[in-house]
Amino acid sequence: MRIDLLSIFPDYFAPLEVSLLGKAGEHGLVDLRIHDLREWTHDRHRSVDDTPYGGGAGMVMMPSVWGEAIDEVFEETGTGGQSDRRVLAIPTPSGVPLTQSMAQDLTNATQLVIACGRYEGIDQRVAEHYREAGFEVLEYSIGDYVLNGGEVAAMVLTEAVARLLDGFMGNPDSLVEESHSGAGLLEYPVFTKPREFRSLEIPGVLLGGNHAAIERWRRDRAIEKTARVRPDLALSLDASSLTREDRAMLARCGVAYPR
Ligand code: ADE
Repeated sequence: MRIDLLSIFPDYFAPLEVSLLGKAGEHGLVDLRIHDLREWTHDRHRSVDDTPYGGGAGMVMMPSVWGEAIDEVFEETGTGGQSDRRVLAIPTPSGVPLTQSMAQDLTNATQLVIACGRYEGIDQRVAEHYREAGFEVLEYSIGDYVLNGGEVAAMVLTEAVARLLDGFMGNPDSLVEESHSGAGLLEYPVFTKPREFRSLEIPGVLLGGNHAAIERWRRDRAIEKTARVRPDLALSLDASSLTREDRAMLARCGVAYPR
């Protein structure tokens, strides 16, 4: 998958070169391209923003410079054949909340272009234009708080998608039971050596080797934690995936799933 990051602060993305993502680049899973938006400016000051129509605080990023930049990076991957899926993602606090299933869905994109706005955001006609031109446009938010720009949110999306690509994870089983994966539950607590840490012991069931009991214990802890910290998730589980024991545990946590 090709991922293009466009920003007036390209140096922001240096951390993506290290760690797992660096490895993904080397293995050819991700072709990551980082671009300085100002390369597409034409004036002496390399301007990217202007005052908002209708008045108000702050500056708005101009559609003309974004249009030239986005056109060029999309053109680099060809004319967009039938099987090509080219997505323009725009991080913004007014976007749809990013979820694991959205990240999973994006793993089959051919190209993901992430346009990072600063100031009060990007002129709305940029999203509108590419949507009308037949591109998939995703205006997304990484949470109910406001950042200074889209760069951090772009790194979040890049990592969330890249780690799901086939061949990225050394052990793909790691993806199965983690939080926000299939079951819809948060992950159970995990422990490693030593057996005692500052007088805290490992839960006994994990030492016994009874795999069914361990599985039940983990599932109960996952249900408990989800009900406590994310009641919204606990209330929207897939009822068909819940066993009688799951329902009993949910009921003990004050979440009712009939039958
Ligand atoms: N830009 C500024 N705040 C943001 C947020 N919460 N999510 C995505 N992009 C942003």
